[in-house]
Amino acid sequence: MFEEAQLYAPVTRSETGEATVHLDHDHPGASDPEYRARRNALATLAMEWQPGDPIPVAPYTDAEHEVWRVVCRELHRLHERHASALYLDGKQRLRLPEDHIPQLSEVNQRLRPLTGFGYVPAAGLVPLLQFYGSLADGVFHSTQYVRHHSVPLYTPEPDVLHEVVGHGNCLAHDRFARVYRSAGEAARRVETEEALEFISKVFWFSLEFGVLREKGEVRSYGAGLLSSYGEIQQVADADLRPLDVARMGVQTYDITHYQPILFCAEGFGEVENVVGGFFDEVDDDLVQRLAHAASTPA
Ligand code: TRP
Ligand code: FE
Repeated sequence: MFEEAQLYAPVTRSETGEATVHLDHDHPGASDPEYRARRNALATLAMEWQPGDPIPVAPYTDAEHEVWRVVCRELHRLHERHASALYLDGKQRLRLPEDHIPQLSEVNQRLRPLTGFGYVPAAGLVPLLQFYGSLADGVFHSTQYVRHHSVPLYTPEPDVLHEVVGHGNCLAHDRFARVYRSAGEAARRVETEEALEFISKVFWFSLEFGVLREKGEVRSYGAGLLSSYGEIQQVADADLRPLDVARMGVQTYDITHYQPILFCAEGFGEVENVVGGFFDEVDDDLVQRLAHAASTPA
């Protein structure tokens, strides 16, 4: 199974259509019945949604809005210090509300005119090919639930804060949006699971956990760092390696902890050339050659 598959709690559906989200026993919300009921309700909404339907309105509670406020407040300060210039630019263009969780439809109204990207709801795991492939059409599958209030600084499970604050501010910038679309085209071009997994790892170490050097400082452009006010502060402690798609595509990772290994670009231009260039030309053959090169000592 792909690593990404374990990211999301499994969701099942009863005969009457109600979804049940199966949280791991060590999930911070596992023994909070109110949280579990919220997760089930939001997953039910997402599962009922069909392409073409209006995006379902997630009726957030005050406590959930408060988690959004806390995280946005912490991130606000940290983004200034740790986020890449392009991300800050996208953030300024999108102007997400920081005092309440926006509905995905509200985000789409702002995002679509900027780069054509839009969100659709996801109950949990979306199959890799569908998730990445949709990016080629400017469609981003997004969860709507919020992380548990007890651990706002980091969640091992992507939530609406990650999707909207992390990815959304990137998708608001045309230079980012182009690389995301290229990733989608790459996912659709390849035919083997091996190549798809390789692409998903390159995506992971760039658009999710990428950093770059800007005026001598290491700054984040990966959405997974930009949505976690815990992890974004630890980037300096990571083992920073030069951008190299062959290495990225075979690098294993553990989704439950801060990433100990990060790949650092010398500016966003290098991300576009190396990562974007890889997405633009990759096919099954290239993956085989790169994977082989990565396993052969230089
Ligand atoms: N850790 C991220 C946060 O706290 C969210 C997240 C969970 C994530 N799993 C991920 C991000 C996988 C990228 C990839 O905001
Ligand atoms: Fe993500």
